[in-house]
Amino acid sequence: MTETTTAGEAFLADFRSMSTFGATLGGGVERQAATVADGQTRNWFRGLVEGHGFEVRYDVVGNQFALLELAPGAPFIALGSHLDSQPLGGRFDGAYGVLAGAHAGIRLKERIEASGETPTFNIAVVNWFNEEGCRFKPSMMGSSVFTGELPAEHALATTDPQGVSVATALEAIGTHGDFTLDVAAYVEIHIEQGRSLEDDGLTIGLVESTWGANKYEFVVHGEQAHTGATVISDRHDALLGAAELVVAARDIANRFSTDEYMVITSCSELNVFPNSPVVVASRVNLLVDVRSTDPDVLAAADAELHHRVAKIEQSANVRIERGAEHVWAAKAYDAAGMELAAASADALGLSHGVVRTLAGHDSTNMKDIVPTIMLFVPSAEGISHNEREFTNDADMLAGVDLLTEVTRRILDGEFVQR
Ligand code: GLV
Ligand code: MN
Ligand code: MN
Repeated sequence: MTETTTAGEAFLADFRSMSTFGATLGGGVERQAATVADGQTRNWFRGLVEGHGFEVRYDVVGNQFALLELAPGAPFIALGSHLDSQPLGGRFDGAYGVLAGAHAGIRLKERIEASGETPTFNIAVVNWFNEEGCRFKPSMMGSSVFTGELPAEHALATTDPQGVSVATALEAIGTHGDFTLDVAAYVEIHIEQGRSLEDDGLTIGLVESTWGANKYEFVVHGEQAHTGATVISDRHDALLGAAELVVAARDIANRFSTDEYMVITSCSELNVFPNSPVVVASRVNLLVDVRSTDPDVLAAADAELHHRVAKIEQSANVRIERGAEHVWAAKAYDAAGMELAAASADALGLSHGVVRTLAGHDSTNMKDIVPTIMLFVPSAEGISHNEREFTNDADMLAGVDLLTEVTRRILDGEFVQR
């Protein structure tokens, strides 16, 4: 059962309104970080929460904080996720969690005002800047700066493929400032982006840990030449080197995955220069991503990747440069937080199970600095980063109820002490 029909309907109505920003013909959204569509979504969100008595602030990298000061001077419990999306992305990834946070805050504010009691903490709903990392790499940029993982100057100087910096793009949408949040604990709810909850018939996933991930930006250097006139033995074909690397990455996933541990690899982005019909490529930039549940298996797969890179330099007659990297370790979430979330789900009669997250989330960073709880609701068929991403209304509402209950308990001092 959801809290009340009216509260549930209000959430669903807001979810529908939010999904119109950057809406795509295929039912998804396209709101890459600090684009016009992202700016519009942020402004819509600002209007929504201000209408419920929140105050909105921004930090230096455009993280958006909707503050509910219920206990003046006290630290904040932050509920967050992200409103930006992948190109042709789904409308649930990230946005669901931000809106769920806002509605949990609205419900708790009403209850607290009705009770007349002062809670131990304040509530902040956070829309982290550029979680997706598509327009500007790396992903989880806003939370990485907030947690000290990434220097702000570095993030602000990062450019998109057109050469526009984060600083300029944030200036253009006008959502940055100098706010800092005093945060005591963090809770994030997100769609699973995998099949396990649906397969097991469960409504809630209690996330026990992240997978480890190593992402590398490689540059394959060849030499521009005529595709017809240059004999094969004279070629330094950057695209051939990149193609061998794409195949090697998949081969590593196949060879290193066991019944016990999975390895997932991808080449997700490839830019070919000069990308012209009668020209052998002089350069290819590509991103290779290697993930595993087990740190030793990840290290072994990673070592094999770099060994293959050296072999491909010989076989394709190219030079492969290793550029920027983005890594995070397989690491546990707070065990007491999982217990609190399990007890909250039990109290609401919601079925739940323990899951791990293959995808990165802003909680991946936040758990390194404050006690953190990560919750999932099911994704139909595990489809994600796709316009067909889907979570049904009942599961979304169950998640909002759970987030509200978890936050209520945290405000009552059940997770962190002041
Ligand atoms: C998110 O940043 C991911 O790479 O999963
Ligand atoms: Mn996400
Ligand atoms: Mn995503």
